[in-house]
Amino acid sequence: MSVREKLRIGMSLAPTWLSGDAWRRSDSEIEQVYSSDYALDIAKRSEAAKLDFVFRPDSLFLNVEALESGPGFGSLDPTIQLASIARETSRIGLLTTISTTFVPPYVVARQLQSLNWISGGRVGWNIVTALDGNENFGLSEMPSAQERYERAAEFAEIVRRLWESYPADALLTDRSSGRYADSTQVRPIDHDGTHLRVKGPLNLPAFGNTRIPLVQAGASPDGRNFASSVADAIFASTPDIEAATELRQDLRRRAEEHGRKASDIRLMPGLSLYLAQSRKEAAALFKETHNRMDSARKLDSILAMTGLDLRDWPQQQRVTAADLPPLPEKLRSRTHAELLRRLILREEPTVADLLTRPEVIGSAHWQIIGTVDDAVAEIVKWQSAGAIDGFIAVPGGSVSSMHLVLDELVPRLAEMRLFRSDYSGKTFLDHLEE
Ligand SMILES: Cc1cc2nc3c(=O)[nH]c(=O)nc-3n(C[C@H](O)[C@H](O)[C@H](O)COP(=O)(O)O)c2cc1C
Repeated sequence: MSVREKLRIGMSLAPTWLSGDAWRRSDSEIEQVYSSDYALDIAKRSEAAKLDFVFRPDSLFLNVEALESGPGFGSLDPTIQLASIARETSRIGLLTTISTTFVPPYVVARQLQSLNWISGGRVGWNIVTALDGNENFGLSEMPSAQERYERAAEFAEIVRRLWESYPADALLTDRSSGRYADSTQVRPIDHDGTHLRVKGPLNLPAFGNTRIPLVQAGASPDGRNFASSVADAIFASTPDIEAATELRQDLRRRAEEHGRKASDIRLMPGLSLYLAQSRKEAAALFKETHNRMDSARKLDSILAMTGLDLRDWPQQQRVTAADLPPLPEKLRSRTHAELLRRLILREEPTVADLLTRPEVIGSAHWQIIGTVDDAVAEIVKWQSAGAIDGFIAVPGGSVSSMHLVLDELVPRLAEMRLFRSDYSGKTFLDHLEE
């Protein structure tokens, strides 16, 4: 990456800073999380910091057991939540998550194009193939990852063609002749594929001549292949700089194989930031957040991801390569399973250590626990090594940690000219391509 290239930065609207025990803090405002003002406040702060976008991950199931100790992933519908933010902001991109596994593509194309109109061209689609929730949609089994990616590729192509099926230029609104639209430009797509059949056209014109950016999450070989063929960015789990560098180089190479430019795909890892005024306070914040960590649930998740049953192991025993069984066939996320295996192979950690690592407790995200200075230094290091094109901030520990990201960290990056100091474009794609 050239030194002048600016970072792309997104902010999570999933309140990651309330996870673990952080929601129990007196200043957490946990009662407000389902109100529209809650996310709006963060979106406005993010726009004031000139961020590329705010981002909502999503899932379509509820882990009832986890509700005993925290809010988990229950949330407002992301696209509806972002519609409420669209009217109250003017520049920031709005990245919503919709799975290609459960909902029909016509509905998805229409929802996204609707939000694109409402926001004046600021919508983006994070394409996921989902981890769970099949029984909420009449499927007794979760389709295999390969089948989900095949369907995702077909689905994304249909959505793109539906958006093109009623182009903005078809609208004439010619009062004198009485012609509202040139109907010859509005065409069915007549898609009849392996997984889906859709006639089209979409019943809503495209907003202007801009394109809706696509982001993808999932980094198995199938996920990388899909992302590099269509996506403008990938939301990734990269717990260390080597993982990020490898993924970025591989995606860029694959993009070229698909006839695109290497720079068409941007690596944006999740960045978990536990920030405070001193390192000591930040370390305490992290510790408090994970104090009441439910070890039994973590050990179950290690078992599901690796096939390794550590439930009776002493805390100080090291886990080594020799202990690892072959990767289980049925996996929720191959990306996360491979990253956990990789950690064990590289470091042979103790059970106690393993239970505090991002691969087990933090979706395998890049994690910084420290001061704003520490975070700036680490981000500069990753950027100058060519490991990232930007990041999606998933702050942890407390509301004040999230505020430090927006009020101090991002302005510092802007002062160093690693990030924009103002918007130059209007649409989400403008920001990404700036
Ligand atoms: C960083 C990251 C974020 C993800 N976010 C979501 C999400 O918000 N909702 C969801 O249903 N699936 C999410 N997924 C799951 C992926 O879409 C995918 O279904 C899963 O990782 C399996 O693909 P893989 O074999 O490529 O890992 C995420 C995956 C990764 C790696």
